[in-house]
Amino acid sequence: MQVTRLTFERFRNLKDGEFLPCSGVNVITGENAQGKTNLLEAIWLFTGGRSFRMAKDKELVAFDREDSRLQMDFEAGNRQQTAAITIKGRRSAELNGIPQSSAAKLAGVFCGVVFSPAHLSLIKGGPQERRRLMDAAYCQLRPSYVKVLADYARVLSQRNALCKAGAGGEGADELFDLWDKQLAQTGCLLIHSRQLYLRRMAPQARRIYEGLSGGKEDFDLQYRSTVEGIVDRTAAEIAQLLYDELRRHRAADLAAGFTTVGPHRDDLEVLINGNPARQFGSQGQQRSAVLAMKLAEATLLQEVTGEKPVALLDDVMSELDISRQDYILNHIQDWQVFITCCDSTSIFKLINGREFRMSGGKLST
Ligand SMILES: Nc1ncnc2c1ncn2[C@@H]1O[C@H](COP(=O)(O)OP(=O)(O)OP(=O)(O)O)[C@@H](O)[C@H]1O
Ligand SMILES: [Mg+2]
Repeated sequence: MQVTRLTFERFRNLKDGEFLPCSGVNVITGENAQGKTNLLEAIWLFTGGRSFRMAKDKELVAFDREDSRLQMDFEAGNRQQTAAITIKGRRSAELNGIPQSSAAKLAGVFCGVVFSPAHLSLIKGGPQERRRLMDAAYCQLRPSYVKVLADYARVLSQRNALCKAGAGGEGADELFDLWDKQLAQTGCLLIHSRQLYLRRMAPQARRIYEGLSGGKEDFDLQYRSTVEGIVDRTAAEIAQLLYDELRRHRAADLAAGFTTVGPHRDDLEVLINGNPARQFGSQGQQRSAVLAMKLAEATLLQEVTGEKPVALLDDVMSELDISRQDYILNHIQDWQVFITCCDSTSIFKLINGREFRMSGGKLST
């Protein structure tokens, strides 16, 4: 996977222009607030995912402008391809000149992983972020998972509406029967897919974390479900367990006004030396844990698709000592990498890369 050209128009603070990266390490330097992260964000959108800063689509359009357009030439599947993204109210996409039904359709065509300081909330924040990590990663491996997620969200909002409406309504029991069955049928796929993903991703993350910590610390990831007994079960078995659990919780859910069990309430526990990183991890351990998960995601993508994903590393080096920086750069040696930083000197001691400068939204070499 390789980006050969990116053009941007009316995107965030970037001055309309183009970016011609090299096939190795691209270092984007510049002072604060110049547009370095915005450039990575533009590349990231071609993975079909949402902005890694969780920005709304309209926030991506330059202030006081109506729309924005990005175009990217890239090599994937041994051929040169072109994709375009237009943001006007919502995001739409074209692939090789053909309009797609949604921008998410680019998932699986162009692959990348991103690390941003915002991802530290993966450890510090609530479970939603960790669920999103698993779901987004799995979407890149199995693009059809996008629809499963959307189906689940739709049925969930219907069941939640029922919970909110209260028990008194006519035919509420029949409706619960209907939504519980549908929710179990799609929900089991979420629980099953996430476990499948972790079974493959966790060993990679453990190995990378070991490298980062110089073999001194032990790392593990565990799926924590609100549904008991789901480990090592088939999707059909999970569907039954989830259905039973939803049924059991009807009264409690009516009282709460929403659905309190199911994959939308599950979590991923990050453990360092057997202790939850969230409560007990140091700053450096938390940063290393996120990096290990992100690089594991990339390694797995490469294994499954046979393509090396591009690595977008936003401000990754600033708090790491030289040996950890060195480990990361070695690990991604033959991927196309985009690294942003304010001061490039320490990176250039470690690698041969190409430097680009970002100043006031203008990119120069
Ligand atoms: N929609 C938008 N239109 C115009 N400018 C925007 C828009 N969204 C963000 N900006 C501006 O873009 C600027 C650069 O943001 P960016 O996050 O890319 O900086 P950066 O170079 O990564 O800085 P840092 O080193 O602090 O991370 C910010 O000052 C922000 O106000
Ligand atoms: Mg930045």
